Amino acid sequence: MIQKRIENLKEEFCKSYGSSDNIRVFNAPGRVNIIGEHTDYNGGLVLPVAIDKSILAVARVREDRILNLKSMNFSMEVSASLDDIRYRKEDDWANYPKGVAWVLEKEGLKLKGADIIFEGEIPIGSGLSSSAAIEVVSMITLLKLSNKKLPLKKIPLLCRKAENEFVGVNCGIMDQFIVTFGKKNHALILDCKTLDYKLVPFQSKGTILIVGNTKVKRGLANSEYNKRVKECAEGVKILKEYINREEIEFLSDITKEEFSRYRDKIPAPIDKRCEHVINENERVRQAVDCLEKGDLENLGKLLNASHYSLRDLYEVSCRELDVMVESSLKIKGVYGARMTGAGFGGCIIALVGEKAKEEFVKRVGRDYQRKLGIKPDFYTCQVGDGAKEI
Ligand code: GLA
Repeated sequence: MIQKRIENLKEEFCKSYGSSDNIRVFNAPGRVNIIGEHTDYNGGLVLPVAIDKSILAVARVREDRILNLKSMNFSMEVSASLDDIRYRKEDDWANYPKGVAWVLEKEGLKLKGADIIFEGEIPIGSGLSSSAAIEVVSMITLLKLSNKKLPLKKIPLLCRKAENEFVGVNCGIMDQFIVTFGKKNHALILDCKTLDYKLVPFQSKGTILIVGNTKVKRGLANSEYNKRVKECAEGVKILKEYINREEIEFLSDITKEEFSRYRDKIPAPIDKRCEHVINENERVRQAVDCLEKGDLENLGKLLNASHYSLRDLYEVSCRELDVMVESSLKIKGVYGARMTGAGFGGCIIALVGEKAKEEFVKRVGRDYQRKLGIKPDFYTCQVGDGAKEI
């Protein structure tokens, strides 16, 4: 499958840039987050997996400082000089690779120009991290072509910086981290404050992870995302006035007991936002425990609790996500379901006994289409590796 995609890309490369001599191929996956939503920018825990849908980049180094960027998914092409990289709204998708080049140059890494063609199969704006994938694949492409090396943890950090400062979305570190460090058949538990992480086997026999795409696109930059980031920062600021512990930097540093003692000092809706983050963090700990013990029943319950909290307290769900989660939970053999990613549209994940798969796809699909008039997409998600050269 991936070989076919690479062949097509090579052909396109030849057509666009004359030959395919000396080209190199790089790949970065999308991700789904099992649990730990909106905890990353609060210094908390997350438990994502890299998936088998990816973005490929075929590239060749140039002797000048020009970046030529094309994509099989968009008609617009962009050329930019590495000596003058600026955000331009009309450059649309190309602002991601441009942002990555900008951040690397800002780090003092003198890059070489490149001709790059991207091709992606991660549905865009669906909460499966197509943006982190294009950032990370661009970063490894530019580094390798320019013969530059960085400590591995710098890659997600710098990609996040590009998204925060160049594209203008105040996202956390989760997506770029799992896209870089993901491992086949493993989930990754990440402490977003310390960046310590551990890989946990994720290969429950007889159980699958189904991704359901509501087909409602979410515009992260235009959405309420940045507002939630601000609300959480406001919550910490207020709580710090009452809790006398120096190490408090993020909401994740605050215990449940401390929060309930001072909750009434926080105005609505910030109190609800804080409650979600503090409980969600605890749910991630419990989820890892369940995963290690193979306790799918309780893992499923944690997924459901996470969804309800995102819906009622954090208020980032939407009717389409809620309908799909509710329909999923009616199917026998489904352990749990929740929205995944930032919310406001995009995808859900459901932990499903393998035998229930057909029934799930048929009935949830029918129910969703009847209620919303949209035909959803479903796919069984295989847990894959992080970004690499192929
Ligand atoms: C988006 C962001 C992540 C994270 C999730 C919500 O995917 O890019 O950093 O905040 O939303 O958990």
